[in-house]
Amino acid sequence: MYICNCNPFTDKDLDRALSDDAVLKTPSNVYKACSGGEVPCCGTCICEIKERVGKHLNKALLAVAE
Ligand code: FES
Repeated sequence: MYICNCNPFTDKDLDRALSDDAVLKTPSNVYKACSGGEVPCCGTCICEIKERVGKHLNKALLAVAE
């Protein structure tokens, strides 16, 4: 499923960026990692990316707390 249509990348690209230790987990850095360094155009996908990054960080925090 495409997450961004302006600089096309999919949910699989997003998952890959989120699991890459070299990618700092901010929406901006994750976007750049998925889009080959591009910046967002229309911004329609940003809410989805922020939500996915937030879920990823919450999951990581819960794993540390256990
Ligand atoms: S859909 Fe991602 S920047 Fe437009």
